[in-house]
Amino acid sequence: MERTAPASGASREAPFYVAAADEVEVFAQCHERRLAVMLKGPTGCGKTRFVEYMAWRLQRPLVTISCHDDLTASDLVGRFLVRHDATVWQDGPLTRAVREGALCYLAEVVEARQDTVVVLHPLTDHRRVLPIDRTGELVAAAPGFQLVVSYNPGYQRMLKDLKPSTRQRFVALDFSFPPPEREAGIVQHEGGVDAGLARTLVELGQRLRSLQDRGLAEVPSTRLIVAAARLAASGIAVRTACYHAIVSPLSDDPVLGAAMRDLVDATFA
Ligand SMILES: Nc1ncnc2c1ncn2[C@@H]1O[C@H](COP(=O)(O)OP(=O)(O)O)[C@@H](O)[C@H]1O
Ligand SMILES: [Mg+2]
Repeated sequence: MERTAPASGASREAPFYVAAADEVEVFAQCHERRLAVMLKGPTGCGKTRFVEYMAWRLQRPLVTISCHDDLTASDLVGRFLVRHDATVWQDGPLTRAVREGALCYLAEVVEARQDTVVVLHPLTDHRRVLPIDRTGELVAAAPGFQLVVSYNPGYQRMLKDLKPSTRQRFVALDFSFPPPEREAGIVQHEGGVDAGLARTLVELGQRLRSLQDRGLAEVPSTRLIVAAARLAASGIAVRTACYHAIVSPLSDDPVLGAAMRDLVDATFA
């Protein structure tokens, strides 16, 4: 879990975020109308960066929680701790976000068990409260509190999914990989490479993404292309950078690996 300090006027620089469509406007309206938001899309396509950007824009603190299947309601809400001979209550990250009117971003919310997720329900409707069972406190959400969750619809589909009773509490924004032009701009900025190399890396990414039809389960995300760009910018030969930053992370399959390396070699021949 990580926290970002409260936004403090112009002193904090805007996180670099390239918008895809009207998501900034829709999110801002959801914030205004007190609607919870769900970001849907593959890993590495800019969901986290978008939330960071919106927190900056809305001048709200940001509390980020990465969900996993061991995450309990207490991890979110808080617990009693024994300190010397006294027992003291300590707020969890969700409770802190509720009290201080932060954006609370739960990444990969499907990874959390249903009994953990239900804790969010009373925060997503007109009640905007967080009941703390252990203390009996009913915490009203401060103005500015907003719940944001992310969810990768392609990943572990069937095995895990959000219950309709949960998903129907959110306005959903769909994310996908940006069109080549825009992705190249992102890779250039984030990777610190020139426009030409950024464009070529994005072309490679597009070719590799087409291998999905040939059994590549995870296609390269913008994040992986940025990683390759960073390595290349640091002086590593660009092919080597692509092998390590893109090819190897994506698959352990020797046949797919060879096919991907061939595409790297053909792109940077
Ligand atoms: N629209 C975008 N604007 C700026 N940077 C982006 C964008 N999309 C992806 N990136 C880059 O890709 C990286 C991964 O994005 P991230 O937001 O962490 O993905 P997600 O949360 O969807 O897994 C970011 O750190 C950033 O460098
Ligand atoms: Mg993320």
